[in-house]
Amino acid sequence: MIPPSTKAAWWLATFLSVIVTGEMPIQSEAEPEFLQALENHTVTQGRDVHFTCVVNHLSNYRVAWIKSDSKAILAIHTNMVALNPRLSVTYNNHNTWKLHVSNVQANDSGTYMCQVNTDPMKSQMGHLTVMIPADIVDTATEGSSAREGGSVRLTCSATGVPPPTVLWRREHNRPIVFRHDGGREKKVVDIYKGESLELSHVQRTDMGAYYCIARNGVPPTISRRYHVQVHFIPQVKVTNQLVGAPLGSDVELQCYIEASPKAMNSWYREDSLVSDKLMENPKFRITETAMNEYSLWMNLTIKSLAPGDYGTYVCASVNALGKMESQVSLHRLELSMNGFAEEPMVSGAAWQGARNLPTRVRPAASHAHQYLTHHLPPQLYALLLTVLRYLRVF
Ligand SMILES: *[C@@H]1O[C@H](CO)[C@@H](O)[C@H](O)[C@H]1NC(C)=O
Ligand SMILES: *[C@@H]1O[C@H](CO)[C@@H](O)[C@H](O)[C@H]1NC(C)=O
Ligand SMILES: *[C@@H]1O[C@H](CO)[C@@H](O)[C@H](O)[C@H]1NC(C)=O
Repeated sequence: MIPPSTKAAWWLATFLSVIVTGEMPIQSEAEPEFLQALENHTVTQGRDVHFTCVVNHLSNYRVAWIKSDSKAILAIHTNMVALNPRLSVTYNNHNTWKLHVSNVQANDSGTYMCQVNTDPMKSQMGHLTVMIPADIVDTATEGSSAREGGSVRLTCSATGVPPPTVLWRREHNRPIVFRHDGGREKKVVDIYKGESLELSHVQRTDMGAYYCIARNGVPPTISRRYHVQVHFIPQVKVTNQLVGAPLGSDVELQCYIEASPKAMNSWYREDSLVSDKLMENPKFRITETAMNEYSLWMNLTIKSLAPGDYGTYVCASVNALGKMESQVSLHRLELSMNGFAEEPMVSGAAWQGARNLPTRVRPAASHAHQYLTHHLPPQLYALLLTVLRYLRVF
């Protein structure tokens, strides 16, 4: 960076000197010059790095290092000026100066200058870019819960250099489901990009772990686990509402339960005087088999049926939001004269409504009733009921 006038003056001086003395100026009178450009560095936080400044013909001039954005003088010759123990300068006693930055930190990034105190001064610059792995800013909520049909919002903000991208995935590669328009429309994705994940009209199938993943190309990638809870009144379904079994046999009554938050589940006798929860004993065996986070099978095995074991059994589930139950009618299966058992009376499973008040279906009586309510126009059904009542009177 020599101004043209200086250059012209230098050439003029050289010219005159050649005329007067008949020879070129000796080497020691040559101006200091840089032999190579100062490098640019891009390093990850925590690493060490150095800038190399090579100057010829320095003679009595000095090399200084300056942080040019803050104008702070870091070092002159090999003397440190900055009170930063992570900075040091080395000199090879010839023409090479190195500024070392150890354990590079975010605030070390910027422009560094190697300067020679000629008049005017000569300098060259190099940039240090410090890359910082992505980090997830601490958020108070690591989970969220909502009633079924409600909405859940998870947020995850990340820092790092360069700025990280944030994406969301579900555990076990399950799809993320976005529901719109009252839950009628849905969009299913494996990955969602963005700091905020908003799920509306949540269903129980949306329950589970979600991961926020932040990455910016600087290892390591970071992730955080969030947990989504969806709450609803338990749903209870027995496999068969009517079960027939002969005296002396073992029978298994099966009940499928969905509940969240966790429910208290039990089997009890509907027709016993004290409707106490049935306990494990030599007569009864109760097994709970979890299917997933919110559903399970609760099976009741009744061993070597005695006459008193026939009757109605109730599978019940109660959680903070409500109670639901479903019944099994266990009746005795008579062996016919030819040695064959009569056809077991097995009816289809029926869900107990989840959003209504808990109701019990009386299997035998209600079946015809349910069939008629579903298949007849209301007026005709009302008429039929009237006729039936009339007939019953006579
Ligand atoms: C360093 O980066 C600056 C600006 O990005 C550029 O002008 C310069 O040529 C680079 N230096 C080297 C040695 O690559
Ligand atoms: C730069 O950051 C480091 C580590 O975060 C800190 O110890 C140091 O005081 C900072 N230096 C300046 C000049 O801000
Ligand atoms: C309970 O019944 C279900 C439905 O038949 C069955 O899949 C499950 O294995 C049974 N559980 C046990 C422990 O027997």
